[in-house]
Amino acid sequence: MAINYNFLSLALIIFSTILHHCLSELCHPEDKKALLQIKKFFNTPNIFPSWDPKTGCCGWYGLTCDYKTHRVNDLFLNYADLAGPIPPQVGDLPYLETLMFHKNPNLTGPIPQSITKLKRLRILSITWTNLSGPIPDFIGEITTLDFLDLSFNKLTGPIPSSIGRLTKLTGLRLDRNQLTGPIPASFGDLTGDNFYLYLSHNQLSGKIPASVLKKDYTYMDLSRNKLEGDASLLFGSDKKNLEIVDLSRNLLEFDLSKVEFPKSLTYLDLNHNKIIGSLPVGLTELRLQLLNVSYNQLCGKIPVGGELQTRFDYSAYFHNRCLCGAPLPNCK
Ligand SMILES: *[C@@H]1O[C@H](CO)[C@@H](O)[C@H](O)[C@H]1NC(C)=O
Ligand SMILES: *[C@@H]1O[C@H](CO)[C@@H](O)[C@H](O)[C@H]1NC(C)=O
Ligand SMILES: *[C@@H]1O[C@H](CO)[C@@H](O)[C@H](O)[C@H]1NC(C)=O
Repeated sequence: MAINYNFLSLALIIFSTILHHCLSELCHPEDKKALLQIKKFFNTPNIFPSWDPKTGCCGWYGLTCDYKTHRVNDLFLNYADLAGPIPPQVGDLPYLETLMFHKNPNLTGPIPQSITKLKRLRILSITWTNLSGPIPDFIGEITTLDFLDLSFNKLTGPIPSSIGRLTKLTGLRLDRNQLTGPIPASFGDLTGDNFYLYLSHNQLSGKIPASVLKKDYTYMDLSRNKLEGDASLLFGSDKKNLEIVDLSRNLLEFDLSKVEFPKSLTYLDLNHNKIIGSLPVGLTELRLQLLNVSYNQLCGKIPVGGELQTRFDYSAYFHNRCLCGAPLPNCK
């Protein structure tokens, strides 16, 4: 029995090695052609040594294939030392569902229009590169997207309202660029559940449209922009998903006194705005991990209870007009 068992396992190992080898050899010729053009476009001799024309592309670095169709589904070119623009041939991988470039500081130039040919693309993530120019209008044509991340680049200009056509999105990150102009009202058309929106560290200005504030986000980070006006519509007891809100370092101006916070809220950073009124008692009912209302124009007594005195020190409340009571000095 022991001999048979050993023989069987040896046979299995040999068989699976051959199978693996065969599968990695299999590769759709059209995809292989596009990948070799991408490699050639980068024109860096030592890049992707595994992308050898003598082998099948499904075993190559930075990609995965569907094991049945042998089409390339995902392309992840991360930490890859890529230099120059994104090759337009990425649009010639028609079965692509994920396209990701992460931490390629020498990647420059615009977002190529050829990505609109990718009719199955679900994830587009280009982050920590030196990509520049505007976010193109045509991004709104890739309606299959459920996640769009263009954070940590050098993108400039206004956010195109065509992003509102990406109704399957559940996450949108455009933070850490140099984007200007308003947040498009069309963002209110994005209908995904558990939505998260990161637009921080840009130069966005104007009022936040009501259509945008009314949505129920899970995470919302608009910090470090030049946004103005009333943001109170973001809150309300009906916002069942809202967990994290960072609106710090803007020019927002509204009365906090009557705002109702949903029970789900755990993180609220409003520092450095022009918020007036007093802190609502409802804050004591939340399980807050962070609260910061410093550098506003708030007044009145800090409500006592919940996490408000125990978890946060005076720096969460200081630099307001006349806010008082623990952990700030007593009210007069
Ligand atoms: C980027 O390019 C510069 C200049 O050509 C080079 O010195 C540097 O090593 C490159 N950095 C990376 C991460 O590729
Ligand atoms: C890319 O960005 C880094 C960090 O911001 C910068 O030091 C570098 O010079 C840039 N490289 C190119 C090729 O623009
Ligand atoms: C609140 O924000 C201010 C301004 O950025 C900062 O100085 C302070 O340390 C923060 N405090 C807390 C408790 O987060």
